[in-house]
Amino acid sequence: MRRHKISIIGAGNVGATCAHWAAAKELGDIVLLDIPDRLGVAQGKALDLACCGPIERFDSRIIGTADYKDIAGSDVIVVTAGLPRKPGMSRDDLLNVNVPIVRSVSEKIREFAPESIVIMVANPLDAMVYTSWKVTGFPTSRIMGQAGALDVARFRQFIAMELGVSVEDISALLLGGHGDDMVPLPRLTSVHGIPLTDLMPEDKIKACVERAKVGGGEIVKLMGTSAYYAPASGSIQMVEAIVKDKKRIIPSAAYCEDEFGVAPGQKGKGYFVGVPALLGAKGVEKIVTFKLNDAEQKLMAESVSHVKDLVGAVRKLFPDLG
Ligand code: NAI
Ligand code: 2OP
Repeated sequence: MRRHKISIIGAGNVGATCAHWAAAKELGDIVLLDIPDRLGVAQGKALDLACCGPIERFDSRIIGTADYKDIAGSDVIVVTAGLPRKPGMSRDDLLNVNVPIVRSVSEKIREFAPESIVIMVANPLDAMVYTSWKVTGFPTSRIMGQAGALDVARFRQFIAMELGVSVEDISALLLGGHGDDMVPLPRLTSVHGIPLTDLMPEDKIKACVERAKVGGGEIVKLMGTSAYYAPASGSIQMVEAIVKDKKRIIPSAAYCEDEFGVAPGQKGKGYFVGVPALLGAKGVEKIVTFKLNDAEQKLMAESVSHVKDLVGAVRKLFPDLG
C-alpha cells in the first residue's frame, strides 16, 4: 500500500506538534518545512521526532527542509506558517503580517503540490483560507481551515469538566468564524444522547459557551503565546479523516455560498466559514446543512459578518485577491 505524504509548512509550535500527532498515529510520511533561516530547527525537530519511532512503533519517514521541492506529491498540506498572537492581541491583529506569508506559501503549494489538499491553520484563520484559495486557485473541496475541530473540542472539554463526565460522551456542534464571536450550539449538544439543556442550568451552559469562545485567549494569557497541543490535535483529526477517507463530519472552515445564509446566490463569491463538513479522500466532500433557529441564525450572521470584514481587509491589502 502506498504511504500517504503529509507536509507541514512552519516548524514552530503548532507545526511541530502536528508532526508529532501525525507520526504517533502513523498517518504517513511527514515533511516539516520552514524558512531557510530555520532549516536547522526543521531538520532537528524532524530527526528528534523520527527517533521516537522505535519507542512509539511508527515507521513514518520524517524530514525537515526549507526546499519546496520536498512537498511534491503531498496528499495533504497543513499550513502553520505565520506569527502567533501575544497577550493583548486579537487574531485579527495578525492579518497584515500573515497575509503576505500565507500568500508566498500558497504560491509554492500551487507550484510544487498542485494536487494536494490544503488545511490552513494560520490566523486570522478565515481570512487566511480565503487568501490561500485565491492564490492557489484550488477547487473549494481541496482547501479548508482548521478552527472548529479545536473550538468544539474546547467546548466539549469545558462541559465535561463542569459535569464531571468523560469527554468521550460529549457530542457538540459549533459554527461560525474562528473569532470570539464563534457560535457554539448548546441546543445541539448532548451527553451520550441526553440533551445538555436537561443536565446543566442555563447559567452554567452560558459559562461553558463563553469559555470556549475565549479559550484561545485564556491560554495566551497564561503562557504568553498561543496554544498548540489542541490546535495541532484538531488539525491532525482533519488530516486523518482525509487520508483514511473516513467521511467524518468535523466543523471546518469550508467554502459556503447559500449554506447557512453565508452569501446567498453569490456564485463564486462565497466565504470560508466554520460549518459541519464531511471530510474524506476528496477533501470537503459535502457541507451538512440543517435549520438554525432564529437566535442561532442571528449569531451566525454576526460571525459571518466579521469574516466578511476580514476578507475585505485582505482585499484592501492585495486588491488582486478580490
Ligand atoms: P510559531 O511562531 O511557533 O511558528 C510559526 C513558524 O512559521 C515559525 O517556525 C516560522 O519560522 C514559520 N514561518 C514563518 N514564515 C514562514 C514562511 N514564509 N514559510 C515557512 N515557514 C514560515 O507559531 P505557532 O504557535 O506555531 O502558530 C502558527 C500560526 O498558527 C499562527 O498564525 C497562529 O496564530 C496560528 N494558530 C491557529 C490556530 C487555529 O486554530 N487555527 C490555533 C493556534 C495557532
Ligand atoms: C487559538 O484559538 C490562537 O487561534 C488560536 O488558540
